[in-house]
Amino acid sequence: MVLICVDCHNQLVENHCSHCGRFYEQKNGILIAWPKTMDKLAEEEAEHHDEDDSDAIEVHQLNRPRNVFYHEQLWQEMRELPKGSSILEIGAGSGFDAQVLQDNYALTLTDVSPETLRRLSEKLNNPDIMYIAADGSRLPFANNSFDGIYMVATLHHLPNQQQGIHELARMVKSGGQVYIGIEPNSTYFMWIKYFRGLLCRLIHMDPHKGSHADAEMEGFSYIDLKKYFFGTEWESVTIRPIWFLAGWWHYGSEFLFRSLRLKKRFVLPSILEWLLIYLDEALFKIPGMKYLAWHWSVSAKKL
Ligand SMILES: C[S@@+](CC[C@H](N)C(=O)[O-])C[C@H]1O[C@@H](n2cnc3c(N)ncnc32)[C@H](O)[C@@H]1O
Repeated sequence: MVLICVDCHNQLVENHCSHCGRFYEQKNGILIAWPKTMDKLAEEEAEHHDEDDSDAIEVHQLNRPRNVFYHEQLWQEMRELPKGSSILEIGAGSGFDAQVLQDNYALTLTDVSPETLRRLSEKLNNPDIMYIAADGSRLPFANNSFDGIYMVATLHHLPNQQQGIHELARMVKSGGQVYIGIEPNSTYFMWIKYFRGLLCRLIHMDPHKGSHADAEMEGFSYIDLKKYFFGTEWESVTIRPIWFLAGWWHYGSEFLFRSLRLKKRFVLPSILEWLLIYLDEALFKIPGMKYLAWHWSVSAKKL
């Protein structure tokens, strides 16, 4: 794996840039590869996620069918790569996907928050995984470094999303697989941003707390994502809708949990979750219905 300086793009030799001489420190086994001047949003995200040690798997019920069904699409895409292939995750967070892929692939996990990576390395306890703290729109890897790259619920956290997509194209090898998942649809999230103050009051949340990226984002339209992947670099670009009824359940039940200050989140019986998924997948076949999905995923291959 060839690492490069995020400031001048020259090769690192023993954590020193071979051109500008900058030294990249390593803390708790995690290389800190932030740029010298980091974007304000990325800095705030690092700070927030360093402190936030809540269990995303529990909070978002990632182990329930409505999430597993869509993460399975990512795992399937990556499983098309031969065993041992090099895979990069951007915004590794809870490690929900890394947990599944770690046995068969050479994983490099990145996140802007070093503490998140430290917690994750303790949890996964796998010495073969490389951890690097970096901003997803300025990553310290040489061109064509990876066979596959994925990011889940992270593109909307990046300070420069178009730049993030350029980075994917730069770092993935020709024929390599890219997957971006669970990205918010602007059909809902631009309104949620508009009414955020009121919503925060209803769910007893301080509007200044939490992830600034989550607070400021408006989500992506189908056309936004199409534009990101328009061009000569990509083939087999597929944009899929995720959750219609399942999204109303997910966000509706979370709203009730927080606004009523309940002690436990609602858990829908698995059979009902599967029913929602199959209904959603049937509904998405109706022309126009995909625009009402709560989230999108994109998969593409680099030419
Ligand atoms: C919603 S979480 C998703 C985490 C993980 N993919 C998962 O599914 O559990 C978003 C993650 O993006 C990370 N993040 C935020 N801004 C980032 C940036 N500029 N570059 C890289 N990662 C970032 C956060 O630290 C957080 O772990």
